Amino acid sequence: MPDAAVVYDAVKDELTLFIPPINPESVIWSGLPLSPEEAAKLYDVDRVLFTTDVNSTLASIASSHNGQTAAFAIAEQVSEGTSFQGFAETNTTSLKTAIEETRVIKDAYEVALLRKANDISTKAHVAAIHASKTATNERQIEAAIIGACIANGCREQSYHPIVAGGEGGATLHYVRNDVDLVDPVTKQRKNNVLIDAGGEYQTYCADITRVIPLNGRFAPETRQIYEIVLQMQTECIAMLKEGVCWDDVHALAHRIAIRGLLKLGILRGSEDELFEKRVSVAFFPHGLGHYLGMDTHDTGGNPNYEDKDTMFRYLRVRANLPAGSVVTVEPGVSTTP
Ligand code: GLY
Ligand code: MN
Repeated sequence: MPDAAVVYDAVKDELTLFIPPINPESVIWSGLPLSPEEAAKLYDVDRVLFTTDVNSTLASIASSHNGQTAAFAIAEQVSEGTSFQGFAETNTTSLKTAIEETRVIKDAYEVALLRKANDISTKAHVAAIHASKTATNERQIEAAIIGACIANGCREQSYHPIVAGGEGGATLHYVRNDVDLVDPVTKQRKNNVLIDAGGEYQTYCADITRVIPLNGRFAPETRQIYEIVLQMQTECIAMLKEGVCWDDVHALAHRIAIRGLLKLGILRGSEDELFEKRVSVAFFPHGLGHYLGMDTHDTGGNPNYEDKDTMFRYLRVRANLPAGSVVTVEPGVSTTP
């Protein structure tokens, strides 16, 4: 028996949620589960039944269409014992892709949940800034982030927080989070810390990345790079509208990086040639962003990780953004130490 299930009758436009029946044994350990009345209030469904009712519900849908209808399911998500008897056909291949595609467009309620996840995650980043003033190890900043998320309603993280002091910030998915921020011999603090973290609110994710100076003020060189990244971000956000080609937004971020690095004398040559030769990929190897939703890297982006073009290989969204999609804009400029 599944822990929970949903069945959608597309003809009647009726969504049924199935929740586990009360099991006295597990009540001793975990307390009372959600009642059908509580579940009906909590979720946007038409009715709530117990998981023991899945098969009879499926059978009644099949017979209400005289067996002339098809059942669609996601193969690896159908619990043992589920029966599609009575349906003319059971299709276990199309539904997953269809859901992945439709998940790209968020309704107002989903956008509100994403905003809530981001509001709470912003509090966590502010807590991280405060913690960074006295932190002597990356893990103290990570603790501040997780603590603030839980205290404000994000019980889970969208992904493992990345807290990277100094050179660690050049590793895209840095995982250590346990390096000292103060040199044990010279007692000197590292200059900066990169924080890439977001909480999850009712399964909806936030994803926020910032670099902050550990002594409260950026060194001039850091500020110069910071300004380039900020410009990449603001100009790319300004380009977002229905139908914009995400590849073009990503390419604009590269052009801004090239112009900034030329101005600083870090790169030399012509903007077009540096762009065509993909030189900026050495400084900005990742994709500009991705769809955000119930997964941090949400579904439907159609990436092409086999792309021979290094500038686009790690771009998690390809082609045009539909209205109602939610995408992260997270440029960066760094060099791997
Ligand atoms: N910001 C973390 C990631 O997109 O993988
Ligand atoms: Mn991200």
